[in-house]
This record gives sequence, C-alpha cells and structure tokens, in this order.
Amino acid sequence: MAYFVTVPQAAQLILNGDIVAVPTETVYGLAANGTNDLAVAKIYALKNRPVFNPLILHIATTEQAHQIAHMNTMALILANAFWPGPLTMVLPAQHNNNISKLACAGLSTIALRMPSHPVMHELLNCLKLPLASPSANPSEHISPTQSMHVIHNFGNQLPVIEGGPCAAGVESTIIDLTSNLPVILRHGPITQSQIENLIGPISHHITGEIKAPGQLLRHYAPNKPLRINASFVHNNEGLVAFGAPLQGAQMTINLSLSQNLQEAAANLFNALHLMDQSSVESIAVMPVPHQGIGAAINDRLKRAASSLATF
Ligand code: TXA
Ligand code: MG
Repeated sequence: MAYFVTVPQAAQLILNGDIVAVPTETVYGLAANGTNDLAVAKIYALKNRPVFNPLILHIATTEQAHQIAHMNTMALILANAFWPGPLTMVLPAQHNNNISKLACAGLSTIALRMPSHPVMHELLNCLKLPLASPSANPSEHISPTQSMHVIHNFGNQLPVIEGGPCAAGVESTIIDLTSNLPVILRHGPITQSQIENLIGPISHHITGEIKAPGQLLRHYAPNKPLRINASFVHNNEGLVAFGAPLQGAQMTINLSLSQNLQEAAANLFNALHLMDQSSVESIAVMPVPHQGIGAAINDRLKRAASSLATF
C-alpha cells in the first residue's frame, strides 16, 4: 500500500523536518522545508543528488519572492505574466534570507518558482514557508508525472500527496535573470517566444560553463538504450511514436496520434517509465518538431539518449 497523506498531514510532516512527495503542474516533486538544512539534506540523500546541484525554492506569494531574492524589473514582468505557473527564475539572492545554504549549493543566486497546481498551492499557503523541491526521481533518472511513478522510484515508505497526473508533464522552464542578458537554462512549458514577447531577445545557454548544474548531459535517462529521430524500428525495440506510428515494433506507445505537442509533453515521461518496465530491449523515438514545448521534449529526449554519465 502506498503511503498517501492529506495536505494538513503533509504540512505537519514538513514542519517536523520530513520529506513529502507533492504534485505540481509540471512533475511530482520531493518537498522539504527550504529553511531547514537537515530536511534539505534528506532530499540530497534520497535522490543521491550531488550537493553542488542547487534546488528550486517553491513559494506561494510574491512577498515571499521579495524576501528571498532580488526581483528585478524583468522578474516582475515575468512573475506577473506566468506565476503561478511553470516558470523558474534564477535571481540574485537577498543576503539576509533564511534559506538553507545547502538548498542553494552555496551560490549567491537562487531559483524561485510559484507553482499553480491547486494541491501544491494549498500546501504552500498552509505552511507559509518556502519549499525546496526537486523532481521526485533518483538523480539522472526520469521525472515522475504520476504518484505511481514516485512510489515506483522510492517505495512505499515515502509519504505522497495524490494530485492526479501532471498537466504539463515536463519540468518548468528555467530562465537566468542574474545578468543583463537573460538566458534560458532549461526549456519547458513556458516557451522562449512567450518570454521574448514580454522582455525582448533572450539567449540560449552558452555551452562550456554549467550554469544550471542539473543540466548535465545524461539526465532524464531510462535504464534502457534510447535512440531519437527514428525513421525505422527493429523488432526487439519499443517505439515511442509521434503521429502515425512506424510499423514493426515489439511495443508502441504514442505520445500524440494527432501530433499535439502539449499532449506529447504530458505523456512523455510516462511513456519512458512504461518502456522501462516492459520487456523491450531498447527504445526508439520518432522525431518531434522543435516548435513551442517541442523544444523541451527534444531537450529531455537528447539527454535520455546520451550515454555520457558526467558524474
Ligand atoms: O518543474 C520543476 O521545476 C520541478 C517541480 C517539482 O517544481 N522541479 C525540478 O527541480 O525540476 P530539479 O531539482 O529537478 O531541477 C532544478 C534545476 C536543476 O537543473 C538545478 O541545477 C537548477 O534547477 N538550479 C537550481 N538553482 C539554480 C541556480 N541558483 N542557478 C542555476 N540553476 C539552478
Ligand atoms: Mg530533476
């Protein structure tokens, strides 16, 4: 039996310094009191996450954002447009904030997000504390988009709040606003053009320097070999299709028969989880167009296909 808890029970556990798995509109997260080093340490241990990789702080109000980080003009414009919602902003931290240094990996910047999922919002409102919350998967593995995936990842000792399947299905867009030129560090549900419409041109992350330490090449990886842009399929392969499926696969899961990119994003991680649990030897994924949220889908697939473990 899974260990499901209500929002008030989860709030009490978090106040006691425990970790609870929570639903958000992007993926399920592991939530800890972001002001408590010991609670945050439990997250790093559970995920087997390198301590140099900072966590996103989740908040319920813009007042909290101002207390934690320096909200510059661009941040205010984007918060007004996209919060609550799947946008994370990296900002200069306020010197006197009470956020765990471990959660920020000792950096002078901080990643903030105000999630829109009603259950997560209720939890944040109830606690009035920032919650440090990474995706609820072991480091480098596929993010969970259903409570079942979380239980599969961590067993039934971990308390989980049920919140249904995640609507967006890929992690939040991350934008770095700490310099004059904003940079997208991670593609996600809020697209580059939606952001550029409000604050002008932004650049992609320049490779060479790791600005989002979690954006290492091998990430979001299933346990089986995965190849992308497949135009044919072997009979021992599982096919992740987009649109009319290629023929001949041992098993096929369609991200979206009608080629709807939102639907494909919402189905992506579940498809990879199901392929991992099936008897197929390897996974072939059909091409997905790079428009809109397709950029986020392709980013996750490219990392899932990489065999380069960086740590
Ligand atoms: O949608 C999401 O953002 C989900 C849900 C649970 O809210 N959370 C999530 O957290 O994806 P996580 O820990 O899996 O990914 C956070 C990313 C990592 O790549 C980390 O390196 C980056 O955010 N990050 C955190 N703080 C940062 C900072 N100060 N500067 C640059 N990157 C940062
Ligand atoms: Mg993650």
